[in-house]
Amino acid sequence: MAVSRRIAELSDLTGRGAIVAGGAGHLGTAAAAALLELGARVAIVDRDRDGCDRAVAGLGPGAVGVPCDLSDEGATRAAVREAARVLGGVDVLVHAAARVGSSGAAGWAVPFAEQSVEAWDESLRVNLTSAFVLVQEARDLLAASGHGAVILFGSIYALVGPDLSLYEGTTMANPVAYGAAKAGIVQLARSLATQLAPAVRVNSISPGGVWRGQPEVFCERYARRTPLGRMASEEDVKGAIAFLASDLSAYVTGHDLVVDGGWTAW
Ligand SMILES: NC(=O)c1ccc[n+]([C@@H]2O[C@H](COP(=O)([O-])OP(=O)(O)OC[C@H]3O[C@@H](n4cnc5c(N)ncnc54)[C@H](O)[C@@H]3O)[C@@H](O)[C@H]2O)c1
Repeated sequence: MAVSRRIAELSDLTGRGAIVAGGAGHLGTAAAAALLELGARVAIVDRDRDGCDRAVAGLGPGAVGVPCDLSDEGATRAAVREAARVLGGVDVLVHAAARVGSSGAAGWAVPFAEQSVEAWDESLRVNLTSAFVLVQEARDLLAASGHGAVILFGSIYALVGPDLSLYEGTTMANPVAYGAAKAGIVQLARSLATQLAPAVRVNSISPGGVWRGQPEVFCERYARRTPLGRMASEEDVKGAIAFLASDLSAYVTGHDLVVDGGWTAW
């Protein structure tokens, strides 16, 4: 048998630069923390200066903020170039930015009949189109890395429809544009995996619902419906990020890593 590299070596990201779009958010910050812990430098690309500053302060040395409205194509392309300048290259690109179910825009987290085309269009700009723009702008940098890895955040709602009985008696909603964009993200990862190979690997992570103080009745129903008996936590995505960002997954591309406690296993 050929001499094999140890797990610690395969997972080491020392000297690599990572962009985390949506890095000021809950899962984006967890992803950034995992990448930093493995030795990478991380550029947090998120909507405003304050959010970036808060995330960078919490993450500590090795993290920098690059504020950017990801619904703006020009600003998104400029943010990739700025992050590459600060990091000295781009080896890893994570897309964790999204308008989520709890975002308060008009025509968004409301019953289907009230969901608006404006909210649909605006959400797709961030939830789907910005991933396309980021990868397109970073592709040459990622290819030059020798270890280029892209990770896009999908969701269980890329794979299955929502069970609306979970939401009964709450003001929560699950906008149809959210799942439609997430299905697009998972397919975008697959499509780019074949197009950017062999220089760049492209995978997605599809988490289940993360506990964030939702109404108790919702959390109970959610936990009961989940084989592992609980909602997800931010910690739960760290292993998936470490695996897909590093040489641990050197032969994995076009894969959707479902981190959902078994939600989609029934
Ligand atoms: N929370 C969950 O239960 C869950 C489940 C499955 C998948 N996901 C996915 O995981 C990813 C992270 O979700 P989260 O729970 O951390 O959400 P979050 O709201 O905490 O983070 C999303 C981040 O995206 C940023 N963002 C939104 N619009 C932006 C814009 N126009 N420009 C720049 N940044 C913008 C926000 O500022 C925020 O920091 C998302 O793709 C989400 O769809 C979340």
